Amino acid sequence: MLDSRTIEIVKSTVPLLESANTALTEHFYKRMFRDNPELKDVFNLSHQKTGRQPAALFAAVLAYAKNIDNPAVLSAAVERIAHKHTGFSIQPAQYDIVGHHLLETIKELAPDAATPEVIDAWAQAYGALAGIFIGREEQLYQQSEQKDGGWRGHRTFVVKEKRVESEQIVSFLLVPEDGGAVADYLPGQYLNLHLDSPELEHKEYRQYSLCQAANGREYRIAVKREPGGVASNFMHDKVQVGDQLQVLPPAGDFFMEVSTETPVVLISGGVGLTPMRAMLDQLLTLGHQADIHWLHACDNGAQHAFKNDIQQRRQAHVNLNTHIWYRTPAETDQPAEDYHAEGLMNLAKVKDAIALDGAHYYFCGPLPFMAMVKEQLSAWGIEDSRLHYEVFGPHQAL
Ligand SMILES: Cc1cc2nc3c(=O)[nH]c(=O)nc-3n(C[C@H](O)[C@H](O)[C@H](O)COP(=O)(O)OP(=O)(O)OC[C@H]3O[C@@H](n4cnc5c(N)ncnc54)[C@H](O)[C@@H]3O)c2cc1C
Ligand code: HEM
Repeated sequence: MLDSRTIEIVKSTVPLLESANTALTEHFYKRMFRDNPELKDVFNLSHQKTGRQPAALFAAVLAYAKNIDNPAVLSAAVERIAHKHTGFSIQPAQYDIVGHHLLETIKELAPDAATPEVIDAWAQAYGALAGIFIGREEQLYQQSEQKDGGWRGHRTFVVKEKRVESEQIVSFLLVPEDGGAVADYLPGQYLNLHLDSPELEHKEYRQYSLCQAANGREYRIAVKREPGGVASNFMHDKVQVGDQLQVLPPAGDFFMEVSTETPVVLISGGVGLTPMRAMLDQLLTLGHQADIHWLHACDNGAQHAFKNDIQQRRQAHVNLNTHIWYRTPAETDQPAEDYHAEGLMNLAKVKDAIALDGAHYYFCGPLPFMAMVKEQLSAWGIEDSRLHYEVFGPHQAL
């Protein structure tokens, strides 16, 4: 429990934090990787280069300082970050490293403002937050371990099947090397792979959404080849059937839990369809009663992953409706059959179908795509509690 003086001092540093902005976290990561280079095998260094992780950490630090006297505001973010951390197998001792570099960063960037009182207040505030994360992460580790087929840390899986789903997306069916069961998950959750190979400069953790409903035996993920991407190109070009991969238990706070009477609208752009496919699979497997809408946007037929699979499901389930947009259809793409509209997704075209009382909306895709979806749904008066989205990278509010 932080005392009122500590809270007051931390809040008084908000203008300082705001003026430093992401320079704060960029400096923090630079000194941490200099002194603790082993963490280069833990963090995604592409997210450092693009600045997305320093931005995510800065947003979290600032939100904490602003709301330190009202922790309830932070609970959703704490839950999301804790899930993210468990995917990287973050351990309590690592909090000391991060705390040390955070305090040193404040001293180095603001030597005049960093009085012993300010540093002491931030040390206490950091310790309190670290304690919350450590406690929640331990709970999540235990939950993963105690499930049927569950485990903690790394487990060796073998690639049982590698299947081309579109020009840029390949799916991998993974089974545990030990031949045992695998833990269930909620549709929307993801796996973390820890890739290690002499061909990679560092070990790389990457998250991939599970793209089918849980079945206790195996996991399927689908990976899009990203231009210049370290892990996705490795997965496409090097990982073959029979190869072993190190896998962390399913994690993530983006998941679907709805009653069978709740209309569900699944909206995806590009490879953002992976968590949606797991949700659809689960809804259909459990005999969902209410309407389900599958909205998907991609470039054209060659980029349209799981096309036949979704079409077959639509034919078999009267409550499943599909709405497909192709940005630039190829001559061979058949309107009405392969896609329903040309250009970028525009929800106004399907408002009558999808603006349903009590419906829940799940969406995933590139950030500008999701921002457009959120803006349109919010403009129809749909409250935030019915809007759920996943960012395929360091979290960013839409
Ligand atoms: C919860 C979650 C679920 C996910 N689910 C999926 C999924 O189901 N399927 C899927 O394919 N992906 C998914 N992802 C994304 C996935 O984890 C990887 O981020 C993705 O595969 C790219 O990894 P990479 O190593 O190939 O690219 P990285 O090497 O990480 O690079 C990412 C992008 O940044 C660019 N970049 C790198 N360095 C620089 C630089 N210096 N300047 C500018 N740009 C740069 C690269 O060119 C590339 O386009 C998910 C992510 C999260 C967080
Ligand atoms: C109180 C301390 C901490 C805070 C506030 C914090 C905050 C964050 C935030 C905001 C994210 C992004 C979450 C998201 O994308 O949803 C994140 C991711 C991450 N954190 Fe932490 N974190 C803390 C401690 C730690 C520690 C101790 C480690 C271990 C070294 C760590 C390692 C990571 C890693 C590896 C990621 C993913 C990075 C990526 O995808 O590029 N964090 N953290």
